[in-house]
Amino acid sequence: MHLSTIILIVDAVLLLGISLFLALRFRKKKKNTQEPTAPQDPNDTILSLSNVVKVYGEGENAVKALKGIDLAFKRSEFVSVLGPSGCGKTTMLNIIGGLDHYTEGDLIINGVSTKRYKDRDWDTYRNHSVGFVFQSYNLIPHQSVMQNVELALTLSGVPKSARKKRVIEALTKVGLKDQIHKKPNQLSGGQMQRVAIARALVNNPDIILADEPTGALDTETSVQVMELLKEVSKERLVIMVTHNPELAEKYSSRIINMVDGLIKGDSSPVKPQTELKTRKEKKVKKPSMSFFTAFRLSLKNLFTK
Ligand SMILES: Nc1ncnc2c1ncn2[C@@H]1O[C@H](COP(=O)(O)OP(=O)(O)O)[C@@H](O)[C@H]1O
Ligand SMILES: [Mg+2]
Repeated sequence: MHLSTIILIVDAVLLLGISLFLALRFRKKKKNTQEPTAPQDPNDTILSLSNVVKVYGEGENAVKALKGIDLAFKRSEFVSVLGPSGCGKTTMLNIIGGLDHYTEGDLIINGVSTKRYKDRDWDTYRNHSVGFVFQSYNLIPHQSVMQNVELALTLSGVPKSARKKRVIEALTKVGLKDQIHKKPNQLSGGQMQRVAIARALVNNPDIILADEPTGALDTETSVQVMELLKEVSKERLVIMVTHNPELAEKYSSRIINMVDGLIKGDSSPVKPQTELKTRKEKKVKKPSMSFFTAFRLSLKNLFTK
């Protein structure tokens, strides 16, 4: 084979790769610049679990952490989940947030079954629709408050130019605007948790999941965090796991009790969605470039060189 032919082939392959990469990037940006949809009824069901079972491990070592959970949640409410240690609270929260997957049953998000979700669908859901808050804050120690919050935007593909404004807005909401240049170890526990809440909020997700967010805080600071989560729940779903029934009673709008992988009490049950939309319908609403289009564009690009 001639050297020039080899160079041409290498060139063609490189160009194809670059074009595909650009096409995929373009598609990602397009997703993020979607117009906000019309205001939705806060009483709509946003999410339901239908007979969700979770088994960890296999054979003799199998642990059935969830034994058939049926639950539905409204678009806007503040739900507390109570129950003894090991009863499956974290497992349920992780499944709702797409951090872990159910073994049986279904998780229905906005009327769409997740049974056929691919990794990419879960990534999109986690990055755009859910914000997580953990007991141990999970902040990156060597990064500033600003950088910690900004990371959530970077991961979901928001361009740099738009990031700073949104980070400052989120930090203002949690009352930490004047701490943006500090490192986590220069903050109190309550302040660190508020940074984590800002990070969870910065993508404007529909759902905030908080796993024992006040578990490491004193009473006074816990109250501040609860007030903040209550405020946040006015326009989204907040599901919080807690060991503190007094705080749950005082601040949340609904209390769910779990025992041994099952729901044993629910102060205001929500009707699950019965009419499931098909995935196709949903796809029509969110137009994006197909792999074929990306491929065709790349070829066109190649031959018009
Ligand atoms: N990754 C895992 N592998 C195996 N077993 C697990 C795992 N995560 C949780 N479990 C088990 O599942 C059950 C429920 O755990 P978890 O959801 O963490 O409970 P809770 O948050 O209510 O304390 C427990 O028996 C626990 O040991
Ligand atoms: Mg737990």
